[in-house]
Amino acid sequence: GVTEMRLKVNGTVRTMQAEPRVTLLDALRERLDLTGTKKGCDHGQCGACTVLVDGKRVNSCLTLAVMVQNKEITTVEGLAKGEELHPLQQAFIDHDGFQCGYCTPGQLMSGVACLKEGHAKTDDSVREWMSGNLCRCGAYPNIVAAIRQVEQ
Ligand code: FES
Repeated sequence: GVTEMRLKVNGTVRTMQAEPRVTLLDALRERLDLTGTKKGCDHGQCGACTVLVDGKRVNSCLTLAVMVQNKEITTVEGLAKGEELHPLQQAFIDHDGFQCGYCTPGQLMSGVACLKEGHAKTDDSVREWMSGNLCRCGAYPNIVAAIRQVEQ
């Protein structure tokens, strides 16, 4: 059956009717119209769907929405403060950290967690942390450079 769920996304509590099996990814995109978070593989292998839950990165395709009620969910739409980009968003622009852009929201959310959790001290540690976020265009060196710029 369908139940009412409450999700706190980017600081705003949203309610929706959904079946308990709905993923956080589908809830964000299809119920809450937050389509910045992307669906690549839907199987935990590409990182396009990465969001933060209580500050920790998760693959939203592997997370049930019902499990993250009462937690703080942050999506790419929540990074900028009004017109002011998050420093990592600006760094992605400065370093051409994307080509087609499909993986970019997930790259940004993983990158934010990388910086916050102290894994951005070296290029190698950034590459290791970001290894679950695939980019079919091959923008990896530019993505690493963008994250390193914010760290320094
Ligand atoms: Fe979730 Fe690929 S869509 S990891």
